[in-house]
Amino acid sequence: MNLILLGPPGAGKGTQAKRLMDRYGIAQISTGDMLRAEVAAGSPTGREAKAVMESGALVSDDIIIRMLGARIDAPDCAKGFILDGFPRTVPQAEALDRLLADKKLNLDAVIALAVDDAALIERISGRFTCKSCGAGYHDRFQPTRVAGLCDACGGREFVRRPDDNRATVTARLDAYHRQTAPILPYYQAQGRFFTVDGMAGIDEVSRQIEAVLAPLGKG
Ligand code: AP5
Repeated sequence: MNLILLGPPGAGKGTQAKRLMDRYGIAQISTGDMLRAEVAAGSPTGREAKAVMESGALVSDDIIIRMLGARIDAPDCAKGFILDGFPRTVPQAEALDRLLADKKLNLDAVIALAVDDAALIERISGRFTCKSCGAGYHDRFQPTRVAGLCDACGGREFVRRPDDNRATVTARLDAYHRQTAPILPYYQAQGRFFTVDGMAGIDEVSRQIEAVLAPLGKG
């Protein structure tokens, strides 16, 4: 099963992608995580992407499309994948169509998470992750069960992303509205496009996504 999760920064793409990955045994492909790994490794791609990401702008289409093309061939994508944070521009969406056609792959569904901008700022400013295993949390909406201890691995150190500050979030939202929102009509015109209420709680959003996938024979 091959899916795209679309939505503005903080909409819950990563949260829902991890649940879908566990449920269906398919790979989560997060271009944001891939870029952060390049930054951490200090690679040429990471050095080029770092300042762009910290400003809240989008990294160049060329870099992203090259990275994605190689990732889809990885063994963990054999049963399918969830694209989280890609495509983000019309040229990326067009490149994805060409890539999938070359590999004789189809998209089963494009699912957009609809969330108000004001809620996104609160979600992003409260987000933190476990330094050891990367499990994601939120100060208010998804706290750890025991304060200061990761539910998944018992880790005690947590990190916050450098681009999760109010000024950068505003720039990220602006990039979303100017460059990413135009791909919604692109996918609406292709069919298999669904919108779920991303303002609902995390479990309810998962339920709505399952309801989209079930009639496709994927539930
Ligand atoms: P990326 O890492 O993709 O970030 P993003 O799109 O801004 O998305 P986020 O990871 O911030 O949010 P999310 O939707 O995954 O939300 P989450 O589930 O964590 O990209 C970062 C940067 O990399 C970009 O700015 C750009 O520079 C570059 N980049 C990446 N891809 C690129 C591309 N294709 N082209 C060009 N540049 C690219 O949830 C957020 C918080 O809310 C969490 O704390 C969670 O617990 C909580 N939460 C989740 N769902 C709910 C809910 N339903 N109710 C309440 N709380 C919730």
